[in-house]
Amino acid sequence: MKVIVVTGASSGIGLSIAQFLGQKGHSIYGVSRSKIHEKNIKSIQADVTDFDQLKAAYQEIFELEGHIDVLINNAGMGISGTIEDTSSEDATYLFNVNLMGVFNSTKAVLPFMRESGGGKILNISSVASKLSIPFQAFYSSSKAAVNSFSEALANEVAPFNIQVCSVMPGDIRTGFTKNRKKNAVDSPEYKNRVDQSVSVMEKDEINGMDPISAAKVIHRLVQKRRIPLYITIGFKYKVIVLLAKLLPAKLANYIVGSIYAFKKGK
Ligand SMILES: NC(=O)c1ccc[n+]([C@@H]2O[C@H](COP(=O)([O-])OP(=O)(O)OC[C@H]3O[C@@H](n4cnc5c(N)ncnc54)[C@H](OP(=O)(O)O)[C@@H]3O)[C@@H](O)[C@H]2O)c1
Repeated sequence: MKVIVVTGASSGIGLSIAQFLGQKGHSIYGVSRSKIHEKNIKSIQADVTDFDQLKAAYQEIFELEGHIDVLINNAGMGISGTIEDTSSEDATYLFNVNLMGVFNSTKAVLPFMRESGGGKILNISSVASKLSIPFQAFYSSSKAAVNSFSEALANEVAPFNIQVCSVMPGDIRTGFTKNRKKNAVDSPEYKNRVDQSVSVMEKDEINGMDPISAAKVIHRLVQKRRIPLYITIGFKYKVIVLLAKLLPAKLANYIVGSIYAFKKGK
């Protein structure tokens, strides 16, 4: 039985991970701003943008359980719209949740994980970290930053028997689509293209994988003795990430643009 903390466990991927791992007999603590009412999940109401809340929560878990074995940094959100029309407040807030939230949670858990003799930190990134999506610049770059953070972290904490993995899901059906914050206004010069682009993205998400597919991948990572630095969820998305690696960057970006940028403004 492992003691596992999942951030963003009130909905979507995090909820599915927490339920699945709870059913496997692990002791699950779910962090989110809203309360979680689930049999196998101990609810911690905290905001990942607040380091002190997380530190107090993880200290309490450690005192109660004697160890923290796995941290899954899953809490996240999206914004969409043109770079030109995005407010600094929205961009800053997104980075506060998606990147600083991972930092706060990791920093808060590390003393306890080291004290536990080791563990695993699984950061939920996205395929968008490898192929930046137009009109989702801040989301894509926050996830690229999560990957970079994971790489540095992995080397820093390896001597403490702590392993790190950046998990990159493809499209998954969750509340993420409805929770995405759209720019209040996108300039008329872009408006049609933004609408078409976001609707392609939303359609892909609504027709995406069941969150259980992510829960199963995470369960395998929890069980494994050695874990990879990166893992992509979904066969189609594994091929896309491989192509992004093999193709010249400009060509890969052109292909993404032909799917999501509507350069001719159809
Ligand atoms: N769905 C996809 O297609 C997809 C693809 C790739 C990657 N991802 C990533 O997967 C992760 C989970 O997304 P999801 O699709 O499951 O979306 P979701 O259904 O909207 O769930 C987001 C979770 O994050 C929590 N959260 C948001 N802001 C928070 C904050 N400030 N403090 C604490 N918790 C916060 C929410 O809980 P509260 O609102 O209760 O706080 C909720 O539990 C995200 O990091 C997302 O970027 C999703």
